[in-house]
Amino acid sequence: MMKKTLLTALIALGLGIGGNATVALASGGEQHIEDFDFSFEGPFGKYDPIQLQRGLKVYTEVCAACHGLRHVAFRTLADEGGPGFTPEQVKAYAAGFDIYNAELDEDLPGKPSDKFPRSALSNAPDLSLMAKARAGFHGPNGLGINQFIKGMGGTEYIASILTGFTGEEKEQAGTTFYENKAFPGGWIAMAPPLEDEQVEFDDGHKNDVEHMAKDVSAFLMWTAEPKMMARKRVGLLSVLFLGLFTVLLYLTNKKIWAPIKRKDA
Ligand code: HEC
Repeated sequence: MMKKTLLTALIALGLGIGGNATVALASGGEQHIEDFDFSFEGPFGKYDPIQLQRGLKVYTEVCAACHGLRHVAFRTLADEGGPGFTPEQVKAYAAGFDIYNAELDEDLPGKPSDKFPRSALSNAPDLSLMAKARAGFHGPNGLGINQFIKGMGGTEYIASILTGFTGEEKEQAGTTFYENKAFPGGWIAMAPPLEDEQVEFDDGHKNDVEHMAKDVSAFLMWTAEPKMMARKRVGLLSVLFLGLFTVLLYLTNKKIWAPIKRKDA
């Protein structure tokens, strides 16, 4: 009974906020994270390789000008559960980057075993792990209820940043800041990087800001957690196994004590 009440309360709290989360910040501003849907949410969720390919294209053509992905090796683009590149595609893609070789002290075309370059702009953070680093705790009072119930996390945060510009800007100490509803504090030193139809997709997929934002965020979730699908599979199997194990233990226990209980009765 108690458990049921608690669960209902939790669910009510989570659903009560609607399709998004607004967190009041100490600075007085409000941080607004939109609840976008992604194919990899939920216990059976999977990355969509075609979406990851589109996200990689957005990253390559737009974000890579400033942000690095220094923890990600090119060869992983061909790993199972990722964007599904063939080894030839990986080779061709890697060759498009100039990678610094410390021994020869010069830049060489990338090889599949190389990692993506570091950030080209010193104040642009590396994006390899951003989707996990900014998983945050969204929901009322930062309890993480939105994560628990709706699976909201770093992917939503990144997509919300990319779609959260209000168009306002201000100068401060020689730096231009852009108003952004999702960035903590409300002002970010990144100009709105995306505009409608900036990146063209081979399959003619929608390329407005919101679609590109979702695609690149999905790709950045994959860079941060490339083995998510394997982890979910193991998690699910463990739960099933534990469930079965509980039933077996219960039955065994009953059987062992059956003669004694019968005597007592
Ligand atoms: C012209 C350079 C530039 C481009 C292009 C650019 N960014 Fe940024 N980005 C920055 C800078 C600089 C910051 C740091 C802003 C700050 O801390 O105020 C930043 C911050 C961010 C943050 C916030 C990180 C945090 O600390 O929470 C995210 C997420 C992000 N960028 C994602 C992207 C994505 C995705 C793209 C491509 C669609 C992109 N950026 C394109 C320069 C850029």
